[in-house]
Amino acid sequence: MSYPEVRPRRLRRTPAIRRLVEETRVAPAELVLPMFVREGLTDSRPVASLPGVVQHSRDSLRKAAVEAVQAGVGGIMLFGVPETRDETGSAGCRPDGILNMAIRDVVTEVGDATVVMSDLCLDEFTSHGHCGLLTPDGSVDNDATLAAYAEMAVAQAAAGVHVVGPSGMMDGQVGVVRRALDAAGYQDVSILAYAAKYASAFYGPFRDAVESALEGDRRSYQQDPANLRESLREVRLDVAEGADLVMVKPALPYLDVLAAVRAEVDVPVAAYQVSGEYAMVEAAAANGWIDRDRVMLETLTSIRRAGAQIILTYWATEAARLLRERY
Ligand code: PBG
Repeated sequence: MSYPEVRPRRLRRTPAIRRLVEETRVAPAELVLPMFVREGLTDSRPVASLPGVVQHSRDSLRKAAVEAVQAGVGGIMLFGVPETRDETGSAGCRPDGILNMAIRDVVTEVGDATVVMSDLCLDEFTSHGHCGLLTPDGSVDNDATLAAYAEMAVAQAAAGVHVVGPSGMMDGQVGVVRRALDAAGYQDVSILAYAAKYASAFYGPFRDAVESALEGDRRSYQQDPANLRESLREVRLDVAEGADLVMVKPALPYLDVLAAVRAEVDVPVAAYQVSGEYAMVEAAAANGWIDRDRVMLETLTSIRRAGAQIILTYWATEAARLLRERY
């Protein structure tokens, strides 16, 4: 019988030694909480397919933002759900549109203590649910949409947002938004580019959360899940156009993309752990099939290990609390 000369198990013997050699840690400050605010609500309302996530009223949004900041999260990403929608998504640009009002509220409440971000996309505001304006034949008109994004970006900046998150996957969107912000005097507003965003079925529960009107799919603008090199091209373009941060989305099913993007660029890389990723864990945990908290932290650790420096997750507040107890 021969005995092993090398024994990796030595470094796994006790909690103390495991802690000493732990390679990846998730810090609360790296977590960003996506939040939904619904026009016309007096109280928050649960989202059935996202247990624990709600559509906020303006009041409940402010309170939840304070809680998130107290828990130590690094940022908040806001999504607005308007009461009425139109062909062009005009409520996204109006100063009294729900998202722009919510930005003002949250920036006033916690703007000095955290980073306030906003989704820069038309899909919540259009009657057809697409991320852009439509041509008469019903396809998404890239360049007309860019003009709308430019206007929306300036409206969000005027509301006080720190970071805009263009998520519509229109070609040239980052450059157009950067120039519009600069021309309006908002040189200090950053851009978190949804650089590699896949046409994913994992967004299902999000569409409930924003009461999406979409019929059909977004495959003519979001990426094919089969493609990795295409993401690197998208990311390079976005950085060249002025992205301050880039994002890969979804997260867990795309860790290979995340790692490749991390190696490709020197700007901070974020990952969005999307609604379907969250819902799968919650559903399995509700059935008693997995240990919810451990799985939650394991997914976040994996996303961090693959190369994300920033993680958008619906668990942000709760995970921040758990992580604080741990370290
Ligand atoms: C588009 C947008 C979507 C998500 C974030 N921004 C939906 C889509 O592209 O269809 C999905 C996020 C999630 O599933 O949690 N504004």
